Amino acid sequence: MNINGRTAILGVIGDPVGHSLSPVMHNAVYQYLKWDCVYIPCRVNAADLSTAVQGIRALNFKGINVTVPHKQMIVAELDDVFGDSRYSGSVNTVINKDGKLFGTSTDGIGLVNSIQTDGGFQLHGKKTLLLGAGGTTAAVVHRLIDSGISKLIVVNRDLAKAVALQQKILQTRGFPIEVYSLPNLPELDWAGIDLIINTTSVGLNNDESLLAKELLQPHHFVYDVVYKKGETRLIREATAAGCQVLSGLSMLLFQGAESFKIWFEMEPLLDIMRQAIYIYR
Ligand code: ATR
Repeated sequence: MNINGRTAILGVIGDPVGHSLSPVMHNAVYQYLKWDCVYIPCRVNAADLSTAVQGIRALNFKGINVTVPHKQMIVAELDDVFGDSRYSGSVNTVINKDGKLFGTSTDGIGLVNSIQTDGGFQLHGKKTLLLGAGGTTAAVVHRLIDSGISKLIVVNRDLAKAVALQQKILQTRGFPIEVYSLPNLPELDWAGIDLIINTTSVGLNNDESLLAKELLQPHHFVYDVVYKKGETRLIREATAAGCQVLSGLSMLLFQGAESFKIWFEMEPLLDIMRQAIYIYR
């Protein structure tokens, strides 16, 4: 790695960040291009977020990615947001322009590109089930609607959160979402569902799945935004049920590629980025 007096600094802030593959992915590109850039992980406690963002200005970082738990809270610390973040209130990418920090989210486009490119699955006209109604759902739902899905069902443990999302999306997008809580899962029309996306953190630190394997059918395309070494239970059970599957490692790649575009205004080197993280599968 070429670190010198002119090296541009980028990084990711979150808590935890120890598991993040973003440093590996982005540094691989800088090294390949022999750029004076470095991408570092910064563990930032929620209580220190404001100070950390001031530090990003003060230390003249070129850009940062933002991960859990800061994606929503950081909005108030930025000079402005653009793109998807205007609707979702979630930011995963910040660019520093002359000391002013601008945030957006590449999670939605990352998910859609991942499904369509790596999954070879066209979203247009598809009936989609989202498990979860938290920050990740909020970040991706607009791009899913933009991609032309014909129906969206959101199932969440806390039904009130799903209802709040339903109302917000109806007001802002005029798009009707069906909402249910977890115990209603068996009653859904499973034959009519094309795509199932888990946006919850279930499966990350345990071997659990919100979906009973009996509900899975071979025509389902199953996407788990969770990425970890080895497969999540959802991906394992969906594979066994004959479903096509894709994990969040692919979303990490495509959201990272979009962040790269924002920072450097050039096409990302997808193969180099993929190579760097896919060895961690
Ligand atoms: P993120 O930004 O990662 O989406 P979040 O906003 O806290 O994080 O949302 C986490 C999501 O995972 C929520 O949909 C949450 O369900 P609740 O809204 O009911 O809390 C879901 N989730 C997390 N742990 C869960 C569990 N053990 N069972 C069911 N859902 C869970």
